[in-house]
Amino acid sequence: MNESIEFLHAFLKNPAKVGSIAPSSPDLARKMLEGIKPSEDKIVLELGVGTGAITKFIEQIVPDDRSYLGIELDGGLVKHLRRHYPDLRIVRGNAQEAVEIHRRSGLGKVGTIICCLPFVSLPNEVGEKILQQVAMFMDHGCTFRTFQYAHGYYFPSAIKLREFMRDRYGRSKRSQLIVNNIPPAYVLTWRSDQPK
Ligand SMILES: C[S@@+](CC[C@H](N)C(=O)[O-])C[C@H]1O[C@@H](n2cnc3c(N)ncnc32)[C@H](O)[C@@H]1O
Repeated sequence: MNESIEFLHAFLKNPAKVGSIAPSSPDLARKMLEGIKPSEDKIVLELGVGTGAITKFIEQIVPDDRSYLGIELDGGLVKHLRRHYPDLRIVRGNAQEAVEIHRRSGLGKVGTIICCLPFVSLPNEVGEKILQQVAMFMDHGCTFRTFQYAHGYYFPSAIKLREFMRDRYGRSKRSQLIVNNIPPAYVLTWRSDQPK
């Protein structure tokens, strides 16, 4: 199945969990990965891998199979991903258990979280649990990067995520609007060591 159809299929099966009708565009993927240099000691942890729209760009910058871990909830998508990215470690699992999944993987410290989860359409308590997991990785020093769609930027759950991060790690570094994406989106970055 082609990537867009695979994605749409997953969306129709579970719109709230997938949260978008189309995979991220190459422009958004490049912005999500700007300046990131993964290694065995600073791996990339991708939350919500989808059909791999960002993963295909991550694949080009990871030096080996010990520098990346992906977590995706949807079993059908995980099958698709394993076919297309046999050299990357992609786990079928829930980002609410990301710390434990990472511990079990035996991989090195997380240097960057590339978060593609649809916080706007996830239940509040799920979003909160995931942010608690993110904070545990941030405690060990890492960068958190996510995108928020322009139309949902002022939705309560989008604001809540920004407030959670801002209270702990200061204001985000926000990209210009990526217009070549459906829908247009901002990329937001927080570093655990940035001054508040
Ligand atoms: C907006 S899509 C992004 C997919 C892809 N990374 C992209 O940028 O095109 C969100 C993905 O997060 C996954 N997801 C939703 N809740 C999740 C959770 N709790 N744990 C892991 N993955 C989850 C969905 O199944 C979906 O594939």
